[in-house]
Amino acid sequence: MLTIQNLTKAFGANKAVDNVTIKIDRPMMIGVIGASGAGKSTLLRMLNRLETETSGSIHFDGRDITALKGADKRRWQADCAMIFQQFNLVPRMDVVSNVLHGTLNRRSALATMFNLYPQADIHRAIDILDRLGIAAHAAKRAEALSGGQQQRVAIARAVMQDPKIVLADEPIASLDPMNAQIVMDDLRRIHDEDGRMVIANLHTLDTARRYCDRVIGMRAGRVVFDGTPAQLTTGAARDIYGADGSFSESATSTSIDTLDRPILAKQAQLA
Ligand SMILES: Nc1ncnc2c1ncn2[C@@H]1O[C@H](COP(=O)(O)OP(=O)(O)OP(=O)(O)O)[C@@H](O)[C@H]1O
Ligand SMILES: [Mg+2]
Repeated sequence: MLTIQNLTKAFGANKAVDNVTIKIDRPMMIGVIGASGAGKSTLLRMLNRLETETSGSIHFDGRDITALKGADKRRWQADCAMIFQQFNLVPRMDVVSNVLHGTLNRRSALATMFNLYPQADIHRAIDILDRLGIAAHAAKRAEALSGGQQQRVAIARAVMQDPKIVLADEPIASLDPMNAQIVMDDLRRIHDEDGRMVIANLHTLDTARRYCDRVIGMRAGRVVFDGTPAQLTTGAARDIYGADGSFSESATSTSIDTLDRPILAKQAQLA
């Protein structure tokens, strides 16, 4: 399904991503973990072509993604929607319009200029907001919402694109524990219910453990762990975060550790 082969991105002498090979054969929820500077964001940015690789290849369903240009590249970028730590909404625009922005890739420039959205798209946007529990805020400006609500709007915008892959770069790093849980639950749901692949860069090991089917650990641009949460032992965590044990303080301190999570049951079923 998704094959990343010997992928490298160098910035001068610094290899941000260094000869990474990852094969994903079905839509899963995947967590990418690693210390700051490990190359997590660069990997995601290459997947949706915000960044061009130095060498290596990316194939999705047999298609060479790195070769795409023009309209084909834009279509691919719609196929893998991106969610960011800072939400990246248009603050003064209302929530529904922010979600409808998720359809921009397939609308004409003229329609975009005059904010002409088909009625069916508007209904769909509200349905998605409803599903994420924030339809009541549809008419508000994005900036009037809490961080957690804004991130759910960003997820709604991503789902509006009907993507095959959802790429989330530290989606909960700016959120309090309760909102972090809601957002992770939502990401898990759009995987479970819609069958979309989700690849999320995550700051804490426990979040990756709790929510993901597969965890990829990066260190200095390389993949040093690729396995199930159960295989992610303390020793493996040391390989990822360094041998000094400092990971136990920062990387594993979990914000949503203490909250109940029904996903665990689902995960157990899958295992
Ligand atoms: N545009 C750029 N120009 C130069 N160097 C870059 C650029 N983007 C990333 N890097 C470097 O590449 C390496 C990997 O960065 P990246 O942002 O992918 O790490 P990360 O794992 O996402 O870190 P964090 O957890 O802090 O977000 C770092 O050494 C970083 O300084
Ligand atoms: Mg990053």
